[in-house]
Amino acid sequence: MKVKSAEFVMSNSDVAKCPKSRIPEYAFIGRSNVGKSSLINMLTSRKSLAKTSGRPGKTQLINHFIINKEWYLVDLPGYGYARVSKTAKKTFQKFITQYFTYREQLVTAFVLVDIRHKPQPVDLDFMIWMGENNIPFSIIFTKADKLKPKAIETHVNDYKAILLETWEEVPNYFITSSSKAIGKDEVLEYIDRLNSNMIDS
Ligand code: GTP
Ligand code: MG
Repeated sequence: MKVKSAEFVMSNSDVAKCPKSRIPEYAFIGRSNVGKSSLINMLTSRKSLAKTSGRPGKTQLINHFIINKEWYLVDLPGYGYARVSKTAKKTFQKFITQYFTYREQLVTAFVLVDIRHKPQPVDLDFMIWMGENNIPFSIIFTKADKLKPKAIETHVNDYKAILLETWEEVPNYFITSSSKAIGKDEVLEYIDRLNSNMIDS
C-alpha cells in the first residue's frame, strides 16, 4: 500500500471526543520511548507527523492521523514510565484502557516492544489484558537496527518462548526499525489486508 496522504486530525484525552467517523482505525501502544511515534512517521514516510523525543513521556494524548483519507493511525502515550508523576501516570493508564475498551472503530492494536530487551512484565501484562478484553493485537519489535541479524533471531525466539507460557499461539508479529525503514511494507500490507476485509464484510 502506498501512503498518499497523512494528516493530523486531533489530540485529546477523552475517548468520547475522538473522531466520530466509522473508518477503520489502528493504534500503537507500548512503553514510553519504545518508538511508537517514530514508527508512525516511518510508516507514513513523514519526518515529523507524530512528535518524537529521546526523552520518555513525549506523547501525552490520543492523537489521530488520517491516512489516504480512508483510515486512522493513532499515536498513544506510553504506559509504565516511572518518571511521569503518579497522578499523570494514572490518567494515562485510565484513558489508554478507556480508549481500548470503548473505541469500536479499532480494527487492531500494535503492541510495541524494544527488540533489545527481555520480555518486561508490564508488556506481558498489557497483552494479557488485551486478550482478556478480546482486543486484537499484533506485536511490533522496534529498533531492530540496534542488533545484528543473529541477535534479532535469538531475541525474537526468546520472546516467543515466554509468550508461549501464557498464550496458546504466538501472536502475529513484525520486526521493525524506524531509522532503517525495516518492516514498513509488511506492516502496511497487513493494514491494507485488514482494510479490504472490512470493506468485504
Ligand atoms: P513516548 O511518546 O514518550 O511514549 O515515546 P514513543 O514510544 O513515541 O517513542 P519515540 O518515537 O518518541 O522514540 C523514542 C526514541 O527512540 C527517540 O530518540 C527515537 O529516535 C528512538 N527510536 C525510535 N525508533 C527507533 C528505531 O527504530 N531505531 C533507533 N535506533 N532508534 C529509534
Ligand atoms: Mg510518542
